[in-house]
Amino acid sequence: IRHLLSGGDLDAGTATEILDTAAEMATVAGREVKKLPALRGRTVVNLFYEDSTRTRISFEAAAKRLSADVINFSAKGSSVTKGESLKDTALTLQAMGADAVVVRHPASGAPHRLANWVDGSVVNAGDGTHEHPTQALLDAYTMRARLGRLAGLHVAIVGDVLHSRVARSNVLLLSTLGAKVTLVGPPTLIPVDWAARAGVGSVATDAAPGTDVCYDLDAVLPGVDVVMMLRVQRERMNDSYFPSAREYARRYGLDGPRLRRLPEHAIVMHPGPMNRGMEITPEVADSPRSTIVEQVANGVSVRMAVLYLLLGGNNR
Ligand code: CP
Repeated sequence: IRHLLSGGDLDAGTATEILDTAAEMATVAGREVKKLPALRGRTVVNLFYEDSTRTRISFEAAAKRLSADVINFSAKGSSVTKGESLKDTALTLQAMGADAVVVRHPASGAPHRLANWVDGSVVNAGDGTHEHPTQALLDAYTMRARLGRLAGLHVAIVGDVLHSRVARSNVLLLSTLGAKVTLVGPPTLIPVDWAARAGVGSVATDAAPGTDVCYDLDAVLPGVDVVMMLRVQRERMNDSYFPSAREYARRYGLDGPRLRRLPEHAIVMHPGPMNRGMEITPEVADSPRSTIVEQVANGVSVRMAVLYLLLGGNNR
C-alpha cells in the first residue's frame, strides 16, 4: 500500500503483516540500542491541524526510532492562521522533500485530498469524525497481545459512536480480521444508517459484516471479550441532543459494578483522552483489566510498522 487513509484500506493479509511487524518492532524498545536505521535519509512530516497528545508524540517517536528525519508542523503558529490552504501547505511540504505526511485534520476526507497533491505517502492520523486507522491498528494489536487472537472475539464499542473516528476505523478493521462488533450507546449517538442496517440487535449484513447495535450496555457486558469505551466528544455536539452527564454515566458509563459483570478474561480499552467520571470511572480506568496505558505503548510499535512498510518496504 502507498497510503493509509482508512481501516477499510487493509485486507486481512496486510493488516496482519502490520501487526506482525509491530510485534517485531516492539522488541526494539527493550534493546540497548533503541534505534533502527531502516528510514535513514527519509523525512516524515507530522501535519497537525487539530490537537493531539498520543498520536502526534507516538508518530514522532516511531519515526525517530526508525532514524527518519522528523518535521513537526502545527497549524497553530503557522501560515495557516494567515489563510494558507491545505493544498498550498501540502505543496510546501512536498518541496521540502517529505517522504511521508502524517495528517490530523478536523475535516473528514482531508487526508484523501492530500494524497492527491503529494508524491509521498499519506497517513491519516484522524480526520474529523471519519477515521483514525492507526488507532484501530494499535487497538487490534493490543487485543491480540492480551487475548491471543482477533478472529471470533466479541468487541463492544460503547458511547459516542456518532462522532467517533476510532469507532469507524475499528468497525472496518475488526470485521476484516474476523471479530464481531456490537455498537452500544444512546440512540442519538449511534449513526442512524448503522442502526438501520443492523436493525438494532440483529446482525448487519452489508457494509460492516458482523456488526450489530444495542442500546442496553448491561445486556451486552456478560458476553464480550473486549469493551472499548469512547470519549464523549462534547466539542462536536449540539447540547440539545446530549443527555445530562449524570444520566449518561448512569446508563453508559463503565463503573466498578459493571466491570464485575464482564467475563473474567475480558479487557477494558479506551483510546484516550478520557473523561474520567463520565464514560469511565477512575476505578475502572486504573484497574488491571484496563489496557489504556498499554495501548499508548503499543501505538509506537504499530506506527513504526506502518511507516516502515509504507516507506521502507518493497513498494518504494
Ligand atoms: N487516541 C488519540 O487519538 O489521542 P490524541 O487525540 O491525544 O492523539
